[in-house]
Amino acid sequence: FAGDWRFIWASPSIETLPPMAGLEVAFAGRSNVGKSSLINALTGRSNLARTSHTPGRTQELIFFEGPEKAGFRLVDMPGYGYASAPKAKVASWTTLIHKFLLGRATLARVYVLIDARHGIKDVDLDVLKTLDKSAVSYQVVLTKADQVKAGALKTVIAETSEALARHPAAFPEVLVTSSRTGDGMPELRAAMVRLIAE
Ligand code: GTP
Ligand code: MG
Repeated sequence: FAGDWRFIWASPSIETLPPMAGLEVAFAGRSNVGKSSLINALTGRSNLARTSHTPGRTQELIFFEGPEKAGFRLVDMPGYGYASAPKAKVASWTTLIHKFLLGRATLARVYVLIDARHGIKDVDLDVLKTLDKSAVSYQVVLTKADQVKAGALKTVIAETSEALARHPAAFPEVLVTSSRTGDGMPELRAAMVRLIAE
């Protein structure tokens, strides 16, 4: 998994995606949940995907290609549910996200990121509903686990699992991660490597 990950393509719309080749793993989630940071932590490249303290950093679908033996691409996505961004922008990002999740044939896995401090929201449930309609396998990943105490983490895991029980297409297991401490990265990398082996 480690090695020479690099940026290959950025697409502001569904009409300008890169030609399909190999498998793709995409990261979806509310603005500021830590999608770009997770890609950096996974690849061990601290500046591969652009991150920011303020929501709305990633505004396009961003494709990264790995070393040959990784055999797949990672796709960073704009965030959804960002209330302070211009309405038209939010609407166009949301449409782009849902279209991509529903219609991309090479998409092999989607990780839906949920901030462990905030838990699952209605906008997340909308994305799960879209994923239920697609043929893509998807799993929920809690982010920023370093920011919550063990008890609160247990509660958010239980609440998230309960919401997932209504989505049989989802992996029932919730992954717990921190891009800051690296917690959960080996498990997430291993899951992706298994995906390629399937
Ligand atoms: P958009 O592109 O705007 O949708 O955001 P994003 O989901 O890509 O989030 P990004 O990776 O840019 O991270 C947002 C903020 O959260 C940054 O300030 C990160 O440093 C911080 N952050 C991300 N992951 C973690 C984490 O695991 N722990 C902590 N404490 N902070 C994190
Ligand atoms: Mg981002």
